Amino acid sequence: MNQPSKFDHFDTPCWLLDPDIVVENYRYFSTLFENAIVAYAVKSNPHPIFLSRLSKAGAHFCVVSTSHLQQLLALNINPQEIVYSHPIKSLNQIEFALQAGVRCFACDSPAEVDKIACFGIPAEIFIRLDVDNTGSMVPLSGKFGVAPDIALELMHRGAQRGLKPIGFTFHVGSQCLRMKSWDGAIETVGSVWEQARKAFHVDFIDIGGGFAVPYPGIPAFHQEDISALIYRDIECYLPGVRRIVLEPGRAISATAGALLVSVIGIAERPDGNIWLYIDAGIFSGLFEILDNFRYPVSVIPAPENSARRAFLQAIRQQNPSRPDSNGQYTYVLGGQTCDSTDKLFDFSVPKPIAIGDRLLLKNTGAYGYSLESRFNGYELPSVEILSLEGL
Ligand SMILES: Cc1ncc(COP(=O)(O)O)c(C=O)c1O
Repeated sequence: MNQPSKFDHFDTPCWLLDPDIVVENYRYFSTLFENAIVAYAVKSNPHPIFLSRLSKAGAHFCVVSTSHLQQLLALNINPQEIVYSHPIKSLNQIEFALQAGVRCFACDSPAEVDKIACFGIPAEIFIRLDVDNTGSMVPLSGKFGVAPDIALELMHRGAQRGLKPIGFTFHVGSQCLRMKSWDGAIETVGSVWEQARKAFHVDFIDIGGGFAVPYPGIPAFHQEDISALIYRDIECYLPGVRRIVLEPGRAISATAGALLVSVIGIAERPDGNIWLYIDAGIFSGLFEILDNFRYPVSVIPAPENSARRAFLQAIRQQNPSRPDSNGQYTYVLGGQTCDSTDKLFDFSVPKPIAIGDRLLLKNTGAYGYSLESRFNGYELPSVEILSLEGL
């Protein structure tokens, strides 16, 4: 008889979210970046319990859409604690944010400066610079950011139109595994900092997100080394800085979420691979698999209380699983949709897995819940708030 697990009574698929971990991660970042403002990137996981717990812990927020902003306002979060970090926004989005009291906007094009200025409110603007995204698993360069000389022109344009240019921002790309990226990015800001300071009241640097999280196959990463490097660079290249903002998303929310799924099918394919099909997949939110992300997997034996236990036990005998010479069972994990893109990754375990067993895909708290879809007509995973400690 299997040991009951604390998840046995949950239907799958189900997001398990732990707000204590989000707060812990936020506190860790606030300690690492003393005197800086940690503005949680809402888009990485906008679940209201994360937002309210982070707000109570003292976090600020960065948003990229009206609906995320509305979520924050509904929680009575002070608009002065919100940075609008998307460099391209619709007029409606800008108008809503200004009316709500948001006063700090990223931009990186003349049209964007004009759009922000056209409402006649002297909002603060900071310019997104194009920086090298080499070494990040989700590069963001090319689509956003300008060269330093253009950034200065945008500041002048903003000032002429009644806006307040306050500084710069960049993003080294999400899950950035190369420390030198921050180095190079801050040096790029430094190349235009003094000129900007002479012309405007510039004292603000927003170093964006990109802070990495441990995933299988990804080398250990030390956030302490990055913060030390960033502070050293800021001191060296950005004299007179008074406001340092960072916008971590993944590093706050990834370890605070897991996806509980059930094995719904198993089959051997002509190439000898054994596929395990689960009741979720790339389109349930695990899109980052397409960017080569992998997640730690825990196996939870099929719940003993299943209504179909007898039948499940019978079909569990139809199991093509076999061990390799090291006693390991290797599976290809397939998502539930008919789409062949919906293949997750291979993984090995010391015991065979069968239909009805459950898998916990860990560290899926960032860019999972926020990316889920109903592709193929499947229901969205449900959500349970609970402690993930010790899993
Ligand atoms: C403007 C901006 N800020 C912050 C983030 C959060 O980045 P991360 O989750 O890598 O920390 C993103 C992610 O794409 C972003 O585009």
